[in-house]
Amino acid sequence: MKIVCRCEDITEEDIIKAIEEYGCETLAELKQLLRLGMGHCQGRTCLILTAKILARKTGKSLNEILPSFRPPAVAVEIGLIGGENGK
Ligand code: FES
Repeated sequence: MKIVCRCEDITEEDIIKAIEEYGCETLAELKQLLRLGMGHCQGRTCLILTAKILARKTGKSLNEILPSFRPPAVAVEIGLIGGENGK
C-alpha cells in the first residue's frame, strides 16, 4: 500500500480505483471525490504524485493535467506585500 496523500490518508490504490471505477480524468475530479490535496499541506507533495498516476493511467501529458498555479506559490509575510509598516 503506497500512501500518496499523507494529510488525507489516500493511497495509490484509492486513486487508481477513482480513475478506473468512477471515471475521474482530472485532478479536480479526484479532489472532489477523495479530498486529495485538501489537507494541511494543501497538496504540496501529493498533487504532483497524483498527476503522474493520472498521466500514466489516462495517457495524458503532465502539462494537460497540472493546473496553472496562481501566485503566490509559496507563503509570504503580509508585510512583504504591503511594505514594512503596512504602507
Ligand atoms: S499530502 Fe495531500 S494534502 Fe497534504
